[in-house]
Amino acid sequence: MQVGFVATMGALHDGHLSLLKRAISENDRTCASIFVNPLQFDDSRDYKAYPTDMQRDLEILNQYGCDMAFSGTMDTFFPEVDHPDKIKPIHPGPYAWDLEGTYRPGFFEGVATIVDRLFRTVGDCKAYFGEKDFQQTLVVKYLSTQMKFTGINIEIVVCPTVRNKGGLALSSRNQHLGTTQIKLANQIYQALNQTQLAWRSSIRNRNTLTEILQTELKHPQISIDYAEIRNPEDWNSTKLKMNDAIALIAVRIGGVRLIDNLRLNQP
Ligand code: PAF
Repeated sequence: MQVGFVATMGALHDGHLSLLKRAISENDRTCASIFVNPLQFDDSRDYKAYPTDMQRDLEILNQYGCDMAFSGTMDTFFPEVDHPDKIKPIHPGPYAWDLEGTYRPGFFEGVATIVDRLFRTVGDCKAYFGEKDFQQTLVVKYLSTQMKFTGINIEIVVCPTVRNKGGLALSSRNQHLGTTQIKLANQIYQALNQTQLAWRSSIRNRNTLTEILQTELKHPQISIDYAEIRNPEDWNSTKLKMNDAIALIAVRIGGVRLIDNLRLNQP
């Protein structure tokens, strides 16, 4: 029996539902997890502010035909320790040390530790992740290759980013944005699109593309964590002339941290 798995932190939105629908359409049975993982938050205020509504989430999962949902506490996920500090961290691999890794210290280690536990709980499956968290998809792909050595087969399926009408990538954090901030946040997608236009006009120099991306994001109320161009197939390459590229952004608008990306060579 082929199992589909969607890992979530709840506060479900259409982005999660696109993963769920795809999982349901491609598998015999689909399960989802709902768990706000404290290990991946470096700021306890951010953790506490994370939106939760278990009842609503379960109703949505049921309504869309998810066969099973599971949740738990740190104790149920890590029964072998009597304190979270004693949990053995899982190394997130070679794609995790910069960008999100720099701005959210411990984030990918926290993600890897819980995702490893979730994968071991579900067992062999196809696991669905959104491309909005591109660096996270690299980390979970790495994890899945490591897990093969322990006899667990996880196939990672990366699904396209879902956006609102203005182009803003859906995220549970968008709930914290006011109307003016949402308008401002649409500038993220515009910056990605402008950079893609430059790519389409044959610009291949990393520095030129980066400059376009960063210039398009300039606004007194947008604080940039990073706005960078990477090769999605050769993540740690620093070559200036690019033959494949993805533009990646992390910004803060009114205290809300938003990330997004766009593959520049996509049609
Ligand atoms: O992307 C998320 O929602 C989380 O990082 C994940 C994969 C569910 C792990 O907590």
